[in-house]
Amino acid sequence: MVMKISILGTGYVGLVTGACLAEQGHNVVCVDIDQKKVELINKGVPPIYEIGLNELLKKNKEKIIATTDAKSAIKDSEMTIICLGTPSKKDGSINLSFIKRGFEKIGNILKQKKWHVVVVKSTVLPGTTKDFIIPILEKISGKKAGIDFGIAMNPEFLREGKAIKDFLKPDRIIIGTYDDKTKKTMQKLYQDFNCPIIITGFTEAEMIKYASNAFLATKISFINEIGNVCKKLGIDTYDVANGMGYDKRISRAFLNSGAGWGGSCFPKDVKALIAKAKETGEKLSILEEVVRVNDLQPLKLIELLKKNISNLEGKEIGILGLAFKKDTDDIRESRAIPVVIKLIEEKTLVKAYDPKAMDNFKKLFPKIKYCNPKDVLNSDAVLILTNWDEFKKYNYTGKIVIDGRRIEEAKKGIYDGICW
Ligand code: UGA
Repeated sequence: MVMKISILGTGYVGLVTGACLAEQGHNVVCVDIDQKKVELINKGVPPIYEIGLNELLKKNKEKIIATTDAKSAIKDSEMTIICLGTPSKKDGSINLSFIKRGFEKIGNILKQKKWHVVVVKSTVLPGTTKDFIIPILEKISGKKAGIDFGIAMNPEFLREGKAIKDFLKPDRIIIGTYDDKTKKTMQKLYQDFNCPIIITGFTEAEMIKYASNAFLATKISFINEIGNVCKKLGIDTYDVANGMGYDKRISRAFLNSGAGWGGSCFPKDVKALIAKAKETGEKLSILEEVVRVNDLQPLKLIELLKKNISNLEGKEIGILGLAFKKDTDDIRESRAIPVVIKLIEEKTLVKAYDPKAMDNFKKLFPKIKYCNPKDVLNSDAVLILTNWDEFKKYNYTGKIVIDGRRIEEAKKGIYDGICW
């Protein structure tokens, strides 16, 4: 069944969702307030870097258009998927002002529509759909959720850089909803997907998303702590992770020790969950430690660096990798950020290279030097912060290399690894 779908927000979640649903045969309208982004999408050019997105947009050009006109897009579609950002406030709690405006717009249009399904894909804390979103929609439209319009909470589990594969071949699809008509529409939307579709309440769907991200972040901080001890004991943590990973109850995934986790999701979601728990009078002490371990982890690289160069003042230190992980230009909460701050404090001359993320990093650190890989390697020492594939091809012979991401080929240098 081909559907007409509008999507609010063209960040990597919104655009990937749109492109993948178009690939599935649906007609998609992507809405964004940014005219430049809209123009690019209409030319078949993604405004963000995401593997495979370019091809998918071009291939499905007929089935996906972008506009700034939210009103018409919602009116002319059967379903609206909300993929607007939910950034953190200073205290770690989430800022719902973007999604509030989005739902107000939808509420106004619901007044004029017989039936419409609203899908919440933005990451929102448990209780948000029931206590915040539905009341806005009902108040503005004067209609009743589950009777006059449908609503579903459908969290995304898309990794940046692998988002298209994750969308088209998911491990599971979670749909929180409470009326049969919406449930059937959502099941139809995902009918060609070969994975379990789990129907839950709204609040459960919201919590599944947070608990999943928090658990994955916990796995990484866990292996990093074990890794720090392994380092002291002369053990290669990757041997330990491989050995553990054969146990299906544990699994090898997300046990790569290194400089820690960053990105637009784990840091924000873990902190928001901690803040939400506080509101209920509960303390998430494990997660508090997960964050603390992650804050300290990148600085281990500086400790190792100082073992090689005791006085860093005036030394040229190269950074390979600024993105929070490979295959993205996203630098949000990248582990390179605390490392660069520390290196500037230590009065070193920082020279940095990243295949995709230099422009974004320049906005944060305009004064450090941005160079080609060769120049970066020509420093007094090099720190590796992202596991880009191209870093495997460099010639590290004779260079002091401190590796936070396990680039085997760098072992040809005067090499030290963070947890191995
Ligand atoms: C994460 C989740 O993996 C997705 O399932 C989720 O949908 C998404 O957040 C979200 O909430 O939107 P993402 O932030 O794109 O996806 O990145 P990951 O691939 O999960 O990596 C996060 C960080 O952990 C990166 O900095 C990465 O370098 C680090 N990491 C990952 C490790 O240090 N070790 C590992 O073994 C795996």
